[in-house]
Amino acid sequence: MSLDKNIDKILIIDFGSQFTQLIARRIRELGVFSEIVSHKKIRNNKIDVTVKGIILSGGPLNVYEINKYSFDKKIIENGLPILGICFGHQILSKLNGGRVKQSKHREFGLANIYKKKESLLIKDFFNNKKINKVWMSHADQVSKLPKNFKLVASSENSKFAIIENDFKKFYGVQFHPEVTHTENGKKLIKNFIFLICKIKRNWSSKDQKIKLINEVKYQVGENKVICALSGGVDSSVVAQLLNKAIGKKLYCIFVNTGLLRKDEEKQVVETFKKKLKINLIYVNAENEFVKKLTNISDPEKKRKIIGNLFIKIFERYAKKIKNVKFLAQGTLYPDLIESKSVTGSQTSKIKSHHNVGGLPKKMRLKLVEPLKFLFKDEVRKLGLELNLNKEIISRHPFPGPGLAIRIPGIITKEKINILKQADYYFIQALRDHGLYHKIWQAYAALLPVKTVGVMGDNRTYEYLCLLRAITSEDGMTADFYEFKKSFVQMISNKIVNSIRGINRVVYDVTSKPPSTIELE
Ligand code: XMP
Repeated sequence: MSLDKNIDKILIIDFGSQFTQLIARRIRELGVFSEIVSHKKIRNNKIDVTVKGIILSGGPLNVYEINKYSFDKKIIENGLPILGICFGHQILSKLNGGRVKQSKHREFGLANIYKKKESLLIKDFFNNKKINKVWMSHADQVSKLPKNFKLVASSENSKFAIIENDFKKFYGVQFHPEVTHTENGKKLIKNFIFLICKIKRNWSSKDQKIKLINEVKYQVGENKVICALSGGVDSSVVAQLLNKAIGKKLYCIFVNTGLLRKDEEKQVVETFKKKLKINLIYVNAENEFVKKLTNISDPEKKRKIIGNLFIKIFERYAKKIKNVKFLAQGTLYPDLIESKSVTGSQTSKIKSHHNVGGLPKKMRLKLVEPLKFLFKDEVRKLGLELNLNKEIISRHPFPGPGLAIRIPGIITKEKINILKQADYYFIQALRDHGLYHKIWQAYAALLPVKTVGVMGDNRTYEYLCLLRAITSEDGMTADFYEFKKSFVQMISNKIVNSIRGINRVVYDVTSKPPSTIELE
């Protein structure tokens, strides 16, 4: 994306951290426009008067090899306030005459930092205390203070955890203020952008909507677009956004994979075709999906097969509609991160989200992914801005590969039917007990294990049903929801007593990390 000429902004220079988009998100939350640019591409002469401050992100690089990067060092001398985060802190220190070396103790996770002096950057950050909890993730650290810098705070392992040169308005923090685990991290960012860069609030969800609509219009021009509509929050928001941007040039395709929640297909058609009057094509591909997945148990293979089949179906329909150039999808930023498709910054791929890594390499349709830099809760806000109703916006996320990744191992029609019923009872019970909206995502899964039970004096040997319910802000991290015993008892009884094929229910109490939200 090119630098936006008209609006004051904070420029985030990305060195490949998986948290760079979180920095942008925090700044959006504070009502300010920001733009991310790669350290490889940005040149000092491209930084215009609209840029009021610069943030240097973290990243997997190390500063000893500084001459290998094509980072334009003149940026450091252009007089703008700079906040360096983690690697950004190290590079800022190095370029100002400090020293960086490998730490004796690498720091990952929570650490205490201790205040050494007052600074504009840490106003309200320590909350009248001398100590604060921050989230670290680094192997190297600053070992000698750069020229004309002062020490603001230290941790046990990183002496120079916060440093400043308040004359030049240069600030460096070894930890990540953008992640929620850092207490008051947002206050530190707020201080930097408002007190130090002195930028004014200039960004709202309405501006976000207008920007995205304009970008879509610009990208697709006069061409036709098909939109992969699943009825979930993300694709619903994309469909409505495109509807506003290009109207009749949009064709939504809803594919019934047979791997959807109970009666999902009926509800989606009812909502989008009948209520929202969106141009919707319903495709029943149940048999095609089940056939292709026969005897497949490897999670990545399942994801790839499903991703490929989706694209095949979209291309088939694109041919029928004629002159379709684009396929729109509701890819979000966490999908990109976990599929390792962001600027090569990730060290390991977690899973191929079907609308990202699960796509075939060769595709005739070009992708339109207007939400790809947003997080789930931001997408929900955007949906409200686009006048989608609360019922659609507040639905729990549902993954593209559907129930396929909630049936570990081999998938059969029998297993799908058992699971649909269990999931229906669970979700219904959450709604009936006023718990649905307290939980970020909940589902039932069917584990490929049979265990022995006893019902009415008879031995049973049936499947294990796993229930998962989590709280989260953006799906990147999650914790399990603590139900009352009476609720889990009730739902366990309901599932075991009503569904033939399940004789045991377990509740998943792992957080993310170390687990993921879905099972595969
Ligand atoms: P994980 O399992 O990666 O899930 O912790 C994070 C969030 O992403 C959803 N998810 C997907 N969504 N296509 C999607 O559209 C996918 O392939 C996919 N895989 C996981 C998951 O339901 C959770 O909300």
